[in-house]
Amino acid sequence: MITNIEPVPEITDIVSLLGECGLPVSDISLSQPPLFFGNRSDSNLSAVVGLEIFGSVALLRSLAVAPAYRGRGLARELVIYAEHFAGSHGVEFLFLLTTTATGFFARLGYVPASRSTAPSTIRTTSQFSGLCPASSAFLSKSVAGLTRRSSGTAAKRGSPSTLR
Ligand SMILES: CC(C)(COP(=O)(O)OP(=O)(O)OC[C@H]1O[C@@H](n2cnc3c(N)ncnc32)[C@H](O)[C@@H]1OP(=O)(O)O)[C@@H](O)C(=O)NCCC(=O)NCCS
Repeated sequence: MITNIEPVPEITDIVSLLGECGLPVSDISLSQPPLFFGNRSDSNLSAVVGLEIFGSVALLRSLAVAPAYRGRGLARELVIYAEHFAGSHGVEFLFLLTTTATGFFARLGYVPASRSTAPSTIRTTSQFSGLCPASSAFLSKSVAGLTRRSSGTAAKRGSPSTLR
């Protein structure tokens, strides 16, 4: 599947999709929102992922695919796109919290991280400091050296090793 992934500036569309998918939205600032990337289908936002970048580390957040578009590899493509975007902007490590998709991220190479040694910038995010339950898995992945992938170059579903 070739997916067109683009920056998504329309915060109202993002909040609507995240709400539909049961993800928190209360910390999304309208004045300084995270970077969001997504895919539109028939002008509707079908999938989104967010990045909060703090120099050499970043929080990957708000990964959501509308129910009608799940199971097509969209989430995987979005995460890989975000990894390459982050890596090409000086990020060395991505961190994330999840209660629902630990296995999904593990298959993409994310490993458990220590909360006590998490970078201070990550610790001060709303997601880390309270919005995500303490029972959330805290995961990280090195993205150092990844280069930017242009939209539409996503590799075929089922071939994650070809994506880098
Ligand atoms: C989790 C979510 C983003 C997955 O979206 P998706 O587009 O259906 O996922 P993909 O099609 O890219 O899945 C890729 C692979 O991961 C698997 N997978 C999908 N969701 C998974 C989950 N929650 N846990 C473990 N594996 C999962 C798929 O079965 C697929 O496996 P395959 O390659 O063997 O077929 C989507 O179900 C969703 O929006 N859920 C609600 C919000 C959420 O939980 N977000 C994640 C936490 S921030």
